[in-house]
Amino acid sequence: MHFSRLSLAGLALSQAAAVTLWASAYNSGVFSLTLEQVEGGYTLTGEPIPGGSTACGIYVSWLTKDQYDNVVYCVDEAWGLANGTITSFKPTSNGSLALFDTERTLASPVATVVYNGGAALVAAHYDTSSVTTWKILPSGGLKAMQVFQYQLEAPGTIPSRQDKPHEHEVILDPSGSFIVLPDLGADLLRIFAINKTTRMLAESSTYAVIPGTGPRHGTFLKTETGTTYLFIIAELANAIASYSVKYTGTGLELTQVFLSGAYRINVAIPAGAGAAEAILSYLLTSLRHVASFQIPNFDSRNSTTIPSDALIIWTIDPATGKLKTDGSFRDFVVHVDIAGSPTSVIWDE
Ligand SMILES: *[C@@H]1O[C@H](CO)[C@@H](O)[C@H](O)[C@H]1NC(C)=O
Ligand SMILES: *[C@@H]1O[C@H](CO)[C@@H](O)[C@H](O)[C@H]1NC(C)=O
Ligand SMILES: *[C@@H]1O[C@H](CO)[C@@H](O)[C@H](O)[C@H]1NC(C)=O
Ligand SMILES: *[C@@H]1O[C@H](CO)[C@@H](O)[C@H](O)[C@H]1NC(C)=O
Repeated sequence: MHFSRLSLAGLALSQAAAVTLWASAYNSGVFSLTLEQVEGGYTLTGEPIPGGSTACGIYVSWLTKDQYDNVVYCVDEAWGLANGTITSFKPTSNGSLALFDTERTLASPVATVVYNGGAALVAAHYDTSSVTTWKILPSGGLKAMQVFQYQLEAPGTIPSRQDKPHEHEVILDPSGSFIVLPDLGADLLRIFAINKTTRMLAESSTYAVIPGTGPRHGTFLKTETGTTYLFIIAELANAIASYSVKYTGTGLELTQVFLSGAYRINVAIPAGAGAAEAILSYLLTSLRHVASFQIPNFDSRNSTTIPSDALIIWTIDPATGKLKTDGSFRDFVVHVDIAGSPTSVIWDE
C-alpha cells in the first residue's frame, strides 16, 4: 500500500478546511474522499468517482499526483492481461477526477513518479521486470519514451518470489537528478541518472543488497545540515535499512548505516508478515498480513472485532541516519468503506 507523504500538519486542517484524498483498491477502482477535522479527530467520507471508478481498470495499483500540472496518474496492474495502462485524470472543483488520456504499456505497472520538474514520468513494472519512461505533454497526457527490461541468469535466494527481476518502486532523489529503483527479484537498488535536456534516464549503477532481502519501497531524507539518507524497506527479509548518500556528480554512492527488522528493533517478525511501505513524516513503515491488533467492527451492530495490520513509527537521528522506535506502534486502519484491497492513498497537495 502506498501513501503520499503524510504530514497532517501540512494539511492545514485547522480552519475546518476539508482536504481531498484519492484512494485506489484492487477490484473497485478509484475513490474521491474528503478528510475533515471534527471535534476530537478527523472524519473521512468518500464516494467512488462518479461514472469513473473503473476508468483506470480493475487492478489499480498506484496513484501519483503531479504537482506541476495538477494531473493524477493512475496505473492498472491488469492481472492476467497482456498489457497494463497509465491513465491521466484532471481533478475537478468538487474533487472528482475527469479522465483525459489512457496509454497502454507493458504489463504490471505498480508505481510511478514524476521527474525532471514535471517533464517526465517513470513507471516500475513488477512482473515484466521493466521500467518505462514517459514524456509528459503540455496537455498532461503521456508519450512513451524508453523501456529498460531486466533478466536474471538464475532465480534468487527465495526462488518463489525471486524467479526474475521485479521492479517495485521508482523514487526521485531530493536533488531531482537521480531515480532509485528497488528490484525485489534481483536484490538490487538500480540507480538511474536523469538527463535534464532529453528527460531520458541513463543507467548509472546498481547497489546489491544482501541476497534474499527483496527491497520493495523507500524514501529519501535531506537533513537540515545537507546530509542525504535513503531508507529502504525490504519485503522478503522484513527489514529496514538506511543508507547515507554521497553524490559523485554522475551517480550516487550508498553506504549502509543501519539495518533492523521492520517490526521494530529486536522484535521478532510475526509469521507471514510482509513489509510494505516506508514514508517520511517521522518515518512510518507498514507491515501487511500481520493482524497485530484487533479493532472494533466498523458496523456498531456487529460485535466481531476486525484484525488490523501494523503501522510502525521510527525516529531518525539526523546525525547518523540510524532509526529508533519509541515503541510507537499503531493499528493500521483508517476505515474507508470501499470494497476490495486498498493499494494507494494520495492527497491533493
Ligand atoms: C463533479 O464535477 C464534475 C465535472 O465538473 C461533474 O461531472 C460531476 O457530476 C460532479 N459530481 C458531483 C458529485 O457533483
Ligand atoms: C503489450 O504487451 C506486449 C507483450 O508483452 C508487448 O510486446 C507490447 O509492447 C505491449 N504494448 C505496449 C504499448 O507497451
Ligand atoms: C544528455 O543527452 C544529450 C543528448 O544525447 C547528450 O549530448 C548529453 O551529454 C547528455 N547529458 C548528460 C549529462 O549526460
Ligand atoms: C461481522 O463482522 C465480521 C468481521 O468483519 C464479518 O465477517 C461478519 O460477516 C459480520 N457479521 C454480520 C452479521 O454482518
